Amino acid sequence: MSVTNLAYIHISETDKGSWAQFGGAILGLMPIERAGFGDNTFLKMDDAPFRVMVSVADEGKLLATGWDTGSQAGFDAMAAKLEAAGITVTAGDSNGAALRCVEQYASANDPAGNPFEIFHTRTSCADCDVPFASPTGIKKFVTGDMGLGHAVIPAPNIDETHAFYTDVMGFGNSDDLRLAPPAEGAPELRILFMHASNARHHSLALANFPHPVGIVHMMVEVTSIDEVGECLDRVSQAGIPLLSTLGRHCNDNMVSFYAIGPGGIAVEFGYDGLQVDDWSKFTATQSTEGDFWGHAYQAMPS
Ligand SMILES: [Fe+2]
Repeated sequence: MSVTNLAYIHISETDKGSWAQFGGAILGLMPIERAGFGDNTFLKMDDAPFRVMVSVADEGKLLATGWDTGSQAGFDAMAAKLEAAGITVTAGDSNGAALRCVEQYASANDPAGNPFEIFHTRTSCADCDVPFASPTGIKKFVTGDMGLGHAVIPAPNIDETHAFYTDVMGFGNSDDLRLAPPAEGAPELRILFMHASNARHHSLALANFPHPVGIVHMMVEVTSIDEVGECLDRVSQAGIPLLSTLGRHCNDNMVSFYAIGPGGIAVEFGYDGLQVDDWSKFTATQSTEGDFWGHAYQAMPS
């Protein structure tokens, strides 16, 4: 029993429209307006109703990762497992379900305090049920059964939080990355990468440091290096700060760069990410190098 994929992500912005601009004109996601939910911004990446929901708040931060449990039975079983593990599960109401375009959902926090949601069955609405068309001409995002991409979230209590995601939520281990401290006397950096029940190398990773916006980064993937380069051009021309330069990761082979979006929420924009078709033949790795080349971090995580 596991979640199938990271189906949506819910974040906040202080200025309505800032994520429509960044997500649309820079990243190439498709902003849509939804009647009755006008305080929120929705970004489509494919034929799912939307993949990113942005609400207006006093600060930009992660409001929830949204995990698909696959079915009513999967949802019920996961909710029961969470409660058996002592996690407080709050059932979502019909308004919240309509907002998320899901049949049923529930909210909870992981042992590090990160908010997440489980749901089953995406629904649609007239405003969401439009063909995906990227404002910047992105041919397609790598999504479908693999969800929107991945999220890396903070977990200073990394062992406890990792045990929760593997033992209760059913994630599998992909890589355990330990990096030398960025400065003498600083703690080791550790990131634990986990996969859901889909081929993407990791749908979730935990970093062993706190983060002011509750998410270290989210990742979206395209199908060509040219679309990565063209997006990097748009980022540069708009004067948007980079969290990291272009590079290729060792563990998932992703060629990507990281831009810092509105509110300080970073987005990894990449292509060529590793897909594992048969996890039973995969052995989780332990790494001490993050990158084959590139990925010079412009600002270390705080
Ligand atoms: Fe990433």
